[in-house]
Amino acid sequence: MKLNRKDLLGLEYLDKDEIDLILQTARPFSELFTRTVKKVPTLRGKTVVLLFYEPSTRTRTSFELAAKRLSADTLNITVASSSVVKGESLIDTVKTIEAMKADFVIIRHSMSGSAHIVANTISASIINAGDGMHEHPTQGLLDLFTIQQKKGRIKGLNVAIIGDIAHSRVARSNIWGLKKLGANVFVVGPSTLMPADVEKLGVEVHYHIDKIIPKLDVINILRIQRERQEQNLFPTLEEFSEIFGINSKKLVRAKNDLLVLHPGPMNRGVEISSEVADGKNSVITEQVTNGIAVRMAVLYLLAGGEGGAGENFDS
Ligand code: CP
Repeated sequence: MKLNRKDLLGLEYLDKDEIDLILQTARPFSELFTRTVKKVPTLRGKTVVLLFYEPSTRTRTSFELAAKRLSADTLNITVASSSVVKGESLIDTVKTIEAMKADFVIIRHSMSGSAHIVANTISASIINAGDGMHEHPTQGLLDLFTIQQKKGRIKGLNVAIIGDIAHSRVARSNIWGLKKLGANVFVVGPSTLMPADVEKLGVEVHYHIDKIIPKLDVINILRIQRERQEQNLFPTLEEFSEIFGINSKKLVRAKNDLLVLHPGPMNRGVEISSEVADGKNSVITEQVTNGIAVRMAVLYLLAGGEGGAGENFDS
């Protein structure tokens, strides 16, 4: 089965079968990591450009590794030392990249909708690596992959997304993906960090974690996005942490096999304690590892590859 899409802009725009296809295709790529040579020739001759207007550790490096493991050529554009600082617009920047015959542009930008604008402007495949407060689709996919890997399913699971929902592109991509695959989704946070009309996305809204913690199978803990807040939306970090921060005391009534996810980077001691981040329920490092396989699957499928379970990518 093929994806038949030029771009990956958000999980809102994919249907269940397309999400399943990406997750199934990521499985054999994750098995590749156990080999001595972690590389296949699938994207030989293709050029992948990484254009990040915002900082990143996980997404940028794992996309670069994913492209390299598929044998593509990669090019990192460091915005701070590019002509962007001389005032070059986003459109002119991506048209310049297009003129150099890039096959993929992976873009992170502070403006919601930026990836859509680029996708409508140039012929290269565009992958949204985070656009403002809108979506971070590959983070959503790697979260789904990790949950499926650990729980064997998504359908019917009770999944809570906790913290700064309003400013989180990770929350939006998770909500779209989880709902499409049949999970029950709860969002938990202070009312000032809850988007208006979030219930319309089919989620249950809570302002305290204690009431729902015993029934949860998964919690996905979000970072406070101070960089996207124009005013103080809660009194102090200490008070936020007291009510919404996840520590081992709050997990006393949780299921033994509760999965703890966090997209990173973490503010230890704010939204998550170190004992939870490094504890037996945490799958945070597995999320990072899975990010490479999921991003390989996305690149491979957007390049027109045939995906699904049991595919052989060695030639
Ligand atoms: N989760 C995530 O997007 O992390 P980075 O900002 O380090 O890429």
